Amino acid sequence: METVEQRFQTPGPQLPPWALPDERLVSVETGRQALALLAERLRRPEGGTVLAPGYLCDSMIEPFISHGWTVEAYAMTGQLSVDHHDVRARARALSRTTRGPVVALLALYFGSEPDDDYRALVADLQAQDLVVIDDETHRVFRAGGAGADYSIASLRKTLPLADGAYVRGGAADDIREPLAAYAEHPRWTAMDDKRRQLDGEPDTVDPRSAFAAANHELEKSDIPRAISTRSLTAIEVLDYASMERARLENAGVLTTLMGDIGIPVLNPPGPRLVPSHLVIRVKDAGAVQAAAARAGVYCPIHWPPSELLEGGTDWPSDVLSLPVDHRYDSGDMRRIASVIEAALA
Ligand SMILES: Cc1ncc(COP(=O)(O)O)c(C=O)c1O
Repeated sequence: METVEQRFQTPGPQLPPWALPDERLVSVETGRQALALLAERLRRPEGGTVLAPGYLCDSMIEPFISHGWTVEAYAMTGQLSVDHHDVRARARALSRTTRGPVVALLALYFGSEPDDDYRALVADLQAQDLVVIDDETHRVFRAGGAGADYSIASLRKTLPLADGAYVRGGAADDIREPLAAYAEHPRWTAMDDKRRQLDGEPDTVDPRSAFAAANHELEKSDIPRAISTRSLTAIEVLDYASMERARLENAGVLTTLMGDIGIPVLNPPGPRLVPSHLVIRVKDAGAVQAAAARAGVYCPIHWPPSELLEGGTDWPSDVLSLPVDHRYDSGDMRRIASVIEAALA
């Protein structure tokens, strides 16, 4: 994502939606580093087991594996949400058979928010002595509300930030201090270049290779380092309300357009769902993604098949994520819809 325009910045500093009263917040560079802090903190000499979603991004479990945890996948529903029944059954079995700590890594994907059933699941797991981590990466605009012991999120997936992630919760001395912050992560340079390119400045360098190099740099380390000073400052002035509004409007328009061409949407927007992306089901997501990219519309697939997870849900190959964030408007949504329609034809 390019550096944000002035219209999505507030004049004065304010707290972001994920900074909740009386809850401790530790901010680091990546989600992987946030999870590494917890993998390190919660592990015992005898090891530990983490129950993880059967459908995920490998960077969610890599820190646990590298800290010696055993990962056990739980099932996801057809809507790619946590299968409560399966998690409960696995938690019960593990409580009987495991000596080490058991952690449940839960996640509401694509913008869904916790409801009473989700909160009841969290409470049941805690009552069985599991530690619950809730991954809020896809719902940073509406963070909290799950009752988890810790919450984490990676921020650069939904916000115009070069780096940034957090762990929320725990006691004051619970989590160790990350390494000292860099003033500015190199991803900012790529984001600034992209901004200049979009603003039509002549002689701007193509930011693509800078993005690739900076992403690689950021993702290769799971040694927790404090969020860069520039990202921390940027967080204070992002206009979250306008960004959320833009997402809801875009997602609403695109949901209608998808309905018109008969494509199912997994996460239509609503009062309790600000989509991270609009997720559609199409027969061969990879082929549609490639065809859309040829027309200049770039749609991520969440996620490529895991290289680390054993068991779990049959990996879906029919989900494609369409961008609906603040950079776009309803005209862009119409273009995306026509590109997807043409890609499917
Ligand atoms: C839901 C979710 N949580 C956590 C992570 C890890 O975040 P990061 O890439 O910042 O390490 C990812 C990465 O894609 C993710 O999709």
